[in-house]
Amino acid sequence: MTSISQTAERHMGDAPLAGRFAEVRARTLALCAGLEPEDYVVQSMPDVSPAKWHLAHTTWFFEHFVLEQHREGYRCFDGAYHHLFNSYYYSAGQMFPRPRRGLLSRPLVKEIRRYRDHVDEEVQRLLQQNGEPEIGQLVTLGLHHEQQHQELMLTDIKHVFSCNPLLPAVNDSLRSPPRGHPPEHHFIPRPGAVVEIGAAGAGFCFDNETPRHRTLLRDHGIGSRLITNGEFLEFIRAGGYAEPGLWLSDGWAAVQKRGWNRPLYWSDDCTREFTLGGERELDRGAPVVHVSYYEADAYARWAGARLPTEAEWEVAARDVPIEGNLANAAWWHPVAAPEAGSQFFGDAWEWTASPYAAYPGFKPLAGSLGEYNGEFMCNQLSVRGGSCVTADDHIRATYRSFFYPDARWQFLGIRLARDA
Ligand SMILES: [Fe+2]
Repeated sequence: MTSISQTAERHMGDAPLAGRFAEVRARTLALCAGLEPEDYVVQSMPDVSPAKWHLAHTTWFFEHFVLEQHREGYRCFDGAYHHLFNSYYYSAGQMFPRPRRGLLSRPLVKEIRRYRDHVDEEVQRLLQQNGEPEIGQLVTLGLHHEQQHQELMLTDIKHVFSCNPLLPAVNDSLRSPPRGHPPEHHFIPRPGAVVEIGAAGAGFCFDNETPRHRTLLRDHGIGSRLITNGEFLEFIRAGGYAEPGLWLSDGWAAVQKRGWNRPLYWSDDCTREFTLGGERELDRGAPVVHVSYYEADAYARWAGARLPTEAEWEVAARDVPIEGNLANAAWWHPVAAPEAGSQFFGDAWEWTASPYAAYPGFKPLAGSLGEYNGEFMCNQLSVRGGSCVTADDHIRATYRSFFYPDARWQFLGIRLARDA
Protein backbone atom coordinates (compact mmCIF):
# COMPACT_ATOMS: atom_id res chain seq x y z
CA MET A 1 0.00 0.00 0.00
CA THR A 2 2.98 2.29 -0.15
CA SER A 3 1.76 4.17 -3.20
CA ILE A 4 -1.60 5.03 -1.71
CA SER A 5 -1.02 8.36 -0.36
CA GLN A 6 -0.05 10.13 2.73
CA THR A 7 -3.09 12.28 1.96
CA ALA A 8 -5.16 9.43 3.30
CA GLU A 9 -3.06 9.29 6.44
CA ARG A 10 -3.61 12.96 7.09
CA HIS A 11 -7.37 12.43 6.83
CA MET A 12 -7.64 9.10 8.50
CA GLY A 13 -10.13 8.67 11.24
CA ASP A 14 -11.40 12.23 11.12
CA ALA A 15 -13.97 14.40 9.47
CA PRO A 16 -12.23 15.37 6.19
CA LEU A 17 -12.20 11.85 4.76
CA ALA A 18 -15.78 11.22 5.90
CA GLY A 19 -16.83 14.44 4.21
CA ARG A 20 -14.88 13.60 1.10
CA PHE A 21 -16.49 10.16 1.00
CA ALA A 22 -19.99 11.65 1.21
CA GLU A 23 -19.16 14.24 -1.44
CA VAL A 24 -17.74 11.83 -4.04
CA ARG A 25 -20.51 9.26 -3.52
CA ALA A 26 -23.18 11.96 -3.90
CA ARG A 27 -21.49 13.29 -7.02
CA THR A 28 -21.87 9.90 -8.70
CA LEU A 29 -25.62 10.02 -8.15
CA ALA A 30 -25.81 13.64 -9.27
CA LEU A 31 -24.22 12.70 -12.61
CA CYS A 32 -27.16 10.34 -13.20
CA ALA A 33 -29.76 13.02 -12.54
CA GLY A 34 -30.91 13.09 -16.17
CA LEU A 35 -31.40 9.32 -16.45
CA GLU A 36 -34.66 7.38 -16.23
CA PRO A 37 -34.85 3.77 -14.93
CA GLU A 38 -34.85 2.30 -18.47
CA ASP A 39 -31.59 4.11 -19.24
CA TYR A 40 -29.71 2.43 -16.41
CA VAL A 41 -29.91 -1.09 -17.82
CA VAL A 42 -28.75 -0.90 -21.44
CA GLN A 43 -25.34 -2.20 -22.57
CA SER A 44 -24.55 -1.20 -26.15
CA MET A 45 -21.25 -3.09 -26.56
CA PRO A 46 -18.94 -5.21 -24.38
CA ASP A 47 -16.75 -2.22 -23.41
CA VAL A 48 -19.80 -0.35 -22.12
CA SER A 49 -21.32 -1.12 -18.73
CA PRO A 50 -24.86 -0.14 -17.78
CA ALA A 51 -25.11 2.88 -15.47
CA LYS A 52 -26.73 0.66 -12.87
CA TRP A 53 -23.74 -1.66 -12.92
CA HIS A 54 -21.36 1.26 -12.31
CA LEU A 55 -23.44 2.36 -9.31
CA ALA A 56 -23.33 -1.16 -7.88
CA HIS A 57 -19.72 -2.04 -8.73
CA THR A 58 -18.26 1.06 -7.06
CA THR A 59 -20.30 0.14 -3.99
CA TRP A 60 -19.08 -3.46 -4.13
CA PHE A 61 -15.51 -2.12 -4.17
CA PHE A 62 -16.05 -0.51 -0.75
CA GLU A 63 -18.00 -3.48 0.56
CA HIS A 64 -15.41 -6.06 -0.50
CA PHE A 65 -12.11 -4.28 0.03
CA VAL A 66 -13.04 -2.17 3.08
CA LEU A 67 -16.03 -3.49 4.99
CA GLU A 68 -15.68 -7.25 4.58
CA GLN A 69 -12.04 -7.12 5.57
CA HIS A 70 -12.00 -4.39 8.19
CA ARG A 71 -15.45 -4.04 9.77
CA GLU A 72 -15.92 -6.70 12.36
CA GLY A 73 -19.19 -8.57 12.07
CA TYR A 74 -20.10 -6.90 8.76
CA ARG A 75 -22.80 -8.80 6.90
CA CYS A 76 -23.02 -8.46 3.12
CA PHE A 77 -26.03 -6.56 1.82
CA ASP A 78 -26.74 -9.43 -0.58
CA GLY A 79 -24.46 -12.42 -1.04
CA ALA A 80 -25.25 -12.64 -4.78
CA TYR A 81 -23.87 -9.18 -5.46
CA HIS A 82 -20.25 -10.31 -5.13
CA HIS A 83 -20.62 -12.37 -8.30
CA LEU A 84 -22.63 -9.74 -10.16
CA PHE A 85 -20.51 -6.69 -9.37
CA ASN A 86 -16.94 -7.94 -9.12
CA SER A 87 -15.36 -6.56 -12.28
CA TYR A 88 -12.05 -8.27 -12.97
CA TYR A 89 -10.57 -9.33 -9.61
CA TYR A 90 -9.97 -13.00 -10.33
CA SER A 91 -8.33 -13.55 -6.98
CA ALA A 92 -11.54 -12.30 -5.31
CA GLY A 93 -13.67 -14.99 -6.96
CA GLN A 94 -15.95 -15.64 -9.91
CA MET A 95 -17.48 -12.75 -11.79
CA PHE A 96 -20.48 -12.33 -14.06
CA PRO A 97 -19.25 -11.97 -17.70
CA ARG A 98 -18.68 -8.38 -18.70
CA PRO A 99 -20.40 -8.58 -22.12
CA ARG A 100 -23.60 -9.79 -20.41
CA ARG A 101 -23.96 -7.01 -17.83
CA GLY A 102 -26.83 -5.54 -19.84
CA LEU A 103 -28.91 -8.62 -19.10
CA LEU A 104 -29.09 -7.72 -15.41
CA SER A 105 -32.54 -6.15 -15.31
CA ARG A 106 -32.51 -7.28 -11.68
CA PRO A 107 -31.55 -6.11 -9.09
CA LEU A 108 -33.65 -3.02 -9.69
CA VAL A 109 -32.19 0.46 -9.74
CA LYS A 110 -33.98 1.23 -6.48
CA GLU A 111 -32.40 -1.86 -4.90
CA ILE A 112 -28.96 -0.69 -6.03
CA ARG A 113 -29.72 2.68 -4.44
CA ARG A 114 -30.50 0.91 -1.17
CA TYR A 115 -27.23 -1.05 -1.53
CA ARG A 116 -25.37 2.23 -1.88
CA ASP A 117 -27.10 3.70 1.18
CA HIS A 118 -26.30 0.61 3.25
CA VAL A 119 -22.61 0.57 2.32
CA ASP A 120 -22.31 4.34 2.73
CA GLU A 121 -23.62 4.15 6.28
CA GLU A 122 -21.30 1.27 7.15
CA VAL A 123 -18.22 2.99 5.72
CA GLN A 124 -19.05 6.17 7.63
CA ARG A 125 -19.38 4.18 10.87
CA LEU A 126 -16.07 2.47 10.18
CA LEU A 127 -14.37 5.82 9.60
CA GLN A 128 -15.73 7.09 12.92
CA GLN A 129 -14.61 4.03 14.84
CA ASN A 130 -11.36 2.96 13.24
CA GLY A 131 -8.50 5.40 12.68
CA GLU A 132 -6.04 2.87 11.25
CA PRO A 133 -4.06 4.39 8.36
CA GLU A 134 -4.88 1.37 6.21
CA ILE A 135 -8.60 2.18 6.42
CA GLY A 136 -7.99 5.72 5.29
CA GLN A 137 -5.78 4.49 2.45
CA LEU A 138 -8.35 1.97 1.25
CA VAL A 139 -11.25 4.43 1.39
CA THR A 140 -9.14 6.99 -0.48
CA LEU A 141 -8.35 4.41 -3.15
CA GLY A 142 -12.07 3.56 -3.33
CA LEU A 143 -12.91 7.23 -3.92
CA HIS A 144 -10.40 7.55 -6.76
CA HIS A 145 -11.83 4.33 -8.18
CA GLU A 146 -15.32 5.83 -7.91
CA GLN A 147 -14.15 8.94 -9.80
CA GLN A 148 -12.81 6.73 -12.59
CA HIS A 149 -16.22 5.14 -12.85
CA GLN A 150 -17.94 8.53 -12.83
CA GLU A 151 -16.15 9.23 -16.10
CA LEU A 152 -16.86 5.77 -17.49
CA MET A 153 -20.52 6.06 -16.59
CA LEU A 154 -20.84 9.22 -18.71
CA THR A 155 -18.89 7.89 -21.68
CA ASP A 156 -20.81 4.62 -21.53
CA ILE A 157 -24.24 6.24 -21.45
CA LYS A 158 -23.11 8.49 -24.30
CA HIS A 159 -22.45 5.39 -26.38
CA VAL A 160 -25.77 3.87 -25.34
CA PHE A 161 -27.69 6.99 -26.35
CA SER A 162 -25.75 7.32 -29.62
CA CYS A 163 -27.23 3.95 -30.65
CA ASN A 164 -30.76 5.32 -30.24
CA PRO A 165 -32.09 7.07 -33.40
CA LEU A 166 -33.75 9.63 -31.13
CA LEU A 167 -30.24 10.79 -30.14
CA PRO A 168 -31.34 11.92 -26.69
CA ALA A 169 -29.37 14.21 -24.42
CA VAL A 170 -27.97 12.58 -21.31
CA ASN A 171 -28.85 15.71 -19.44
CA ASP A 172 -31.20 18.33 -20.95
CA SER A 173 -29.63 21.10 -18.91
CA LEU A 174 -26.27 20.78 -20.69
CA ARG A 175 -25.58 23.87 -22.76
CA SER A 176 -23.52 24.03 -25.95
CA PRO A 177 -20.00 25.20 -25.20
CA PRO A 178 -18.97 28.56 -26.62
CA ARG A 179 -17.29 28.32 -30.03
CA GLY A 180 -13.85 29.75 -30.14
CA HIS A 181 -10.91 30.17 -32.46
CA PRO A 182 -7.94 28.30 -31.07
CA PRO A 183 -4.48 29.84 -31.35
CA GLU A 184 -2.29 28.70 -34.22
CA HIS A 185 -0.71 25.31 -33.60
CA HIS A 186 3.04 25.23 -33.17
CA PHE A 187 5.69 22.98 -31.65
CA ILE A 188 7.25 23.98 -28.34
CA PRO A 189 10.96 23.08 -28.39
CA ARG A 190 12.02 20.76 -25.57
CA PRO A 191 15.66 19.91 -24.84
CA GLY A 192 16.98 16.40 -24.67
CA ALA A 193 18.01 15.31 -21.18
CA VAL A 194 17.93 12.51 -18.67
CA VAL A 195 14.76 13.30 -16.72
CA GLU A 196 12.81 11.72 -13.91
CA ILE A 197 9.18 10.80 -14.41
CA GLY A 198 6.61 9.10 -12.21
CA ALA A 199 5.04 9.93 -8.88
CA ALA A 200 7.15 10.70 -5.86
CA GLY A 201 5.24 13.35 -3.96
CA ALA A 202 2.97 13.27 -0.96
CA GLY A 203 -0.34 13.23 -2.85
CA PHE A 204 -2.39 10.22 -3.89
CA CYS A 205 -1.22 8.17 -6.83
CA PHE A 206 -2.01 4.78 -8.29
CA ASP A 207 0.63 2.08 -8.16
CA ASN A 208 1.18 2.26 -11.93
CA GLU A 209 2.62 5.80 -11.56
CA THR A 210 5.53 4.46 -9.52
CA PRO A 211 8.40 4.23 -9.02
CA ARG A 212 9.80 7.54 -10.13
CA HIS A 213 12.69 6.76 -12.42
CA ARG A 214 15.12 8.21 -14.89
CA THR A 215 14.54 8.12 -18.63
CA LEU A 216 16.17 9.67 -21.68
CA LEU A 217 14.51 12.36 -23.77
CA ARG A 218 15.94 13.44 -27.09
CA ASP A 219 15.58 16.99 -28.41
CA HIS A 220 12.00 17.29 -29.60
CA GLY A 221 9.04 19.59 -29.98
CA ILE A 222 5.61 19.04 -28.47
CA GLY A 223 2.33 20.40 -29.85
CA SER A 224 1.12 23.65 -28.30
CA ARG A 225 -2.49 22.41 -28.10
CA LEU A 226 -4.77 19.55 -29.16
CA ILE A 227 -5.60 18.91 -32.81
CA THR A 228 -9.01 20.33 -33.74
CA ASN A 229 -12.01 18.94 -35.59
CA GLY A 230 -11.24 21.33 -38.44
CA GLU A 231 -7.68 20.06 -38.73
CA PHE A 232 -8.83 16.45 -38.64
CA LEU A 233 -11.40 17.27 -41.35
CA GLU A 234 -8.49 18.29 -43.60
CA PHE A 235 -6.99 14.84 -43.09
CA ILE A 236 -10.31 13.26 -44.10
CA ARG A 237 -10.70 15.49 -47.15
CA ALA A 238 -7.13 14.72 -48.20
CA GLY A 239 -8.09 11.04 -48.35
CA GLY A 240 -6.39 10.04 -45.11
CA TYR A 241 -8.74 7.13 -44.47
CA ALA A 242 -8.08 5.76 -47.97
CA GLU A 243 -4.27 5.89 -47.96
CA PRO A 244 -2.79 2.68 -46.52
CA GLY A 245 0.70 4.19 -46.41
CA LEU A 246 -0.39 6.41 -43.51
CA TRP A 247 -1.55 3.56 -41.32
CA LEU A 248 -0.06 0.95 -39.04
CA SER A 249 -0.90 -2.50 -40.35
CA ASP A 250 -3.36 -3.22 -37.54
CA GLY A 251 -4.86 0.23 -38.02
CA TRP A 252 -5.39 -0.27 -41.73
CA ALA A 253 -7.01 -3.64 -40.99
CA ALA A 254 -9.36 -1.91 -38.52
CA VAL A 255 -10.26 0.75 -41.10
CA GLN A 256 -11.09 -1.95 -43.63
CA LYS A 257 -12.97 -4.23 -41.30
CA ARG A 258 -15.00 -1.58 -39.50
CA GLY A 259 -15.49 0.85 -42.33
CA TRP A 260 -14.02 3.78 -40.40
CA ASN A 261 -13.98 7.01 -42.38
CA ARG A 262 -14.49 9.62 -39.63
CA PRO A 263 -14.36 9.86 -35.82
CA LEU A 264 -16.98 8.04 -33.80
CA TYR A 265 -20.18 10.10 -33.30
CA TRP A 266 -19.70 12.29 -36.41
CA SER A 267 -22.58 12.40 -38.89
CA ASP A 268 -22.07 10.88 -42.37
CA ASP A 269 -21.42 14.30 -43.88
CA CYS A 270 -19.02 15.36 -41.12
CA THR A 271 -21.09 18.41 -40.19
CA ARG A 272 -22.65 17.22 -36.92
CA GLU A 273 -21.60 15.18 -33.92
CA PHE A 274 -23.39 13.42 -31.12
CA THR A 275 -22.59 14.83 -27.67
CA LEU A 276 -23.77 14.24 -24.12
CA GLY A 277 -26.12 17.17 -24.80
CA GLY A 278 -27.57 15.54 -27.96
CA GLU A 279 -26.58 16.05 -31.58
CA ARG A 280 -24.92 19.38 -32.39
CA GLU A 281 -23.21 21.12 -35.26
CA LEU A 282 -19.52 20.17 -35.40
CA ASP A 283 -17.33 22.84 -33.82
CA ARG A 284 -14.25 23.02 -36.02
CA GLY A 285 -12.23 24.86 -33.40
CA ALA A 286 -12.80 22.25 -30.68
CA PRO A 287 -10.42 19.31 -30.20
CA VAL A 288 -11.18 16.19 -32.21
CA VAL A 289 -12.22 13.31 -29.94
CA HIS A 290 -13.38 9.71 -30.19
CA VAL A 291 -10.49 8.67 -32.40
CA SER A 292 -8.54 5.46 -31.94
CA TYR A 293 -4.80 5.25 -31.47
CA TYR A 294 -4.62 4.11 -35.08
CA GLU A 295 -6.39 7.26 -36.29
CA ALA A 296 -4.26 9.48 -34.05
CA ASP A 297 -1.10 7.83 -35.36
CA ALA A 298 -2.21 8.09 -39.02
CA TYR A 299 -3.11 11.75 -38.57
CA ALA A 300 0.29 12.45 -37.02
CA ARG A 301 2.08 10.73 -39.89
CA TRP A 302 0.02 12.68 -42.43
CA ALA A 303 0.91 15.90 -40.58
CA GLY A 304 4.64 15.09 -40.72
CA ALA A 305 4.79 14.51 -37.01
CA ARG A 306 4.34 11.71 -34.47
CA LEU A 307 2.60 11.18 -31.14
CA PRO A 308 4.49 12.15 -27.97
CA THR A 309 5.95 9.53 -25.67
CA GLU A 310 4.49 9.56 -22.20
CA ALA A 311 7.78 10.87 -20.81
CA GLU A 312 7.72 13.79 -23.26
CA TRP A 313 4.11 14.47 -22.32
CA GLU A 314 4.70 14.32 -18.56
CA VAL A 315 7.76 16.55 -18.56
CA ALA A 316 5.91 19.21 -20.57
CA ALA A 317 2.65 18.94 -18.61
CA ARG A 318 4.17 19.21 -15.16
CA ASP A 319 5.25 22.76 -15.91
CA VAL A 320 1.66 23.97 -16.32
CA PRO A 321 -1.15 24.37 -13.75
CA ILE A 322 -3.63 21.52 -13.44
CA GLU A 323 -6.60 23.35 -14.88
CA GLY A 324 -8.70 23.11 -17.99
CA ASN A 325 -12.00 21.89 -19.34
CA LEU A 326 -12.68 19.14 -16.76
CA ALA A 327 -16.00 17.85 -15.44
CA ASN A 328 -16.77 20.82 -13.19
CA ALA A 329 -16.81 23.14 -16.20
CA ALA A 330 -20.01 21.20 -16.97
CA TRP A 331 -19.65 21.34 -20.75
CA TRP A 332 -18.99 17.61 -20.83
CA HIS A 333 -17.56 18.21 -24.29
CA PRO A 334 -14.24 19.58 -25.55
CA VAL A 335 -13.95 23.29 -26.25
CA ALA A 336 -11.52 25.30 -28.36
CA ALA A 337 -8.20 26.10 -26.71
CA PRO A 338 -8.08 29.56 -25.17
CA GLU A 339 -5.46 32.01 -26.45
CA ALA A 340 -2.80 30.95 -23.95
CA GLY A 341 -4.11 27.47 -23.23
CA SER A 342 -2.05 24.34 -23.79
CA GLN A 343 -4.88 21.88 -23.04
CA PHE A 344 -2.61 19.43 -21.26
CA PHE A 345 -5.37 18.83 -18.72
CA GLY A 346 -9.01 18.28 -19.59
CA ASP A 347 -10.84 18.23 -22.94
CA ALA A 348 -9.44 14.89 -24.14
CA TRP A 349 -7.23 12.08 -22.97
CA GLU A 350 -4.22 12.23 -25.24
CA TRP A 351 -2.90 9.16 -26.98
CA THR A 352 0.81 8.69 -26.42
CA ALA A 353 3.18 6.56 -28.48
CA SER A 354 4.11 4.64 -25.32
CA PRO A 355 2.93 1.13 -24.57
CA TYR A 356 1.25 0.93 -21.18
CA ALA A 357 3.91 -1.05 -19.34
CA ALA A 358 5.40 -1.34 -15.88
CA TYR A 359 7.90 1.32 -14.89
CA PRO A 360 11.32 -0.12 -13.95
CA GLY A 361 11.03 -1.51 -10.43
CA PHE A 362 7.19 -1.46 -10.44
CA LYS A 363 5.54 -3.36 -7.61
CA PRO A 364 1.76 -3.81 -7.70
CA LEU A 365 -0.29 -3.40 -4.53
CA ALA A 366 -0.47 -6.44 -2.28
CA GLY A 367 -3.34 -8.93 -2.52
CA SER A 368 -6.32 -8.67 -4.87
CA LEU A 369 -5.78 -4.93 -5.31
CA GLY A 370 -2.60 -5.82 -7.17
CA GLU A 371 -4.97 -6.62 -10.04
CA TYR A 372 -6.18 -3.01 -10.15
CA ASN A 373 -3.63 -1.83 -12.73
CA GLY A 374 -0.81 -4.32 -13.14
CA GLU A 375 -2.65 -7.08 -14.97
CA PHE A 376 -3.41 -4.76 -17.89
CA MET A 377 0.19 -3.95 -18.72
CA CYS A 378 0.16 -5.58 -22.14
CA ASN A 379 -1.16 -4.58 -25.57
CA GLN A 380 -2.55 -1.20 -24.50
CA LEU A 381 -1.32 2.39 -24.92
CA SER A 382 -0.85 5.02 -22.23
CA VAL A 383 -3.11 8.04 -22.44
CA ARG A 384 -2.57 11.23 -20.47
CA GLY A 385 -4.21 14.40 -19.22
CA GLY A 386 -7.85 13.64 -18.42
CA SER A 387 -10.92 14.74 -20.35
CA CYS A 388 -13.95 17.00 -20.21
CA VAL A 389 -15.67 14.42 -17.98
CA THR A 390 -12.75 13.74 -15.64
CA ALA A 391 -13.29 14.96 -12.07
CA ASP A 392 -11.25 18.12 -11.51
CA ASP A 393 -9.36 16.71 -8.53
CA HIS A 394 -8.69 13.39 -10.22
CA ILE A 395 -5.90 14.25 -12.63
CA ARG A 396 -2.20 15.05 -12.37
CA ALA A 397 0.86 15.06 -14.61
CA THR A 398 1.94 11.56 -13.57
CA TYR A 399 -1.53 9.98 -14.05
CA ARG A 400 -1.53 7.08 -16.53
CA SER A 401 -4.70 5.71 -18.03
CA PHE A 402 -4.67 3.11 -20.79
CA PHE A 403 -6.78 1.79 -23.64
CA TYR A 404 -6.55 -0.72 -26.44
CA PRO A 405 -5.48 0.93 -29.69
CA ASP A 406 -8.87 0.46 -31.34
CA ALA A 407 -10.84 2.11 -28.50
CA ARG A 408 -12.87 5.15 -29.56
CA TRP A 409 -15.74 5.52 -27.10
CA GLN A 410 -13.74 7.52 -24.55
CA PHE A 411 -12.89 11.20 -25.04
CA LEU A 412 -9.59 10.37 -26.76
CA GLY A 413 -7.78 13.04 -28.76
CA ILE A 414 -4.51 13.98 -30.44
CA ARG A 415 -1.46 16.01 -29.46
CA LEU A 416 1.48 15.96 -31.86
CA ALA A 417 5.20 15.82 -31.24
CA ARG A 418 8.20 15.74 -33.55
CA ASP A 419 11.89 15.10 -33.41
CA ALA A 420 14.09 18.18 -33.37
FE1 LIG B 1 -13.78 -0.70 -11.22
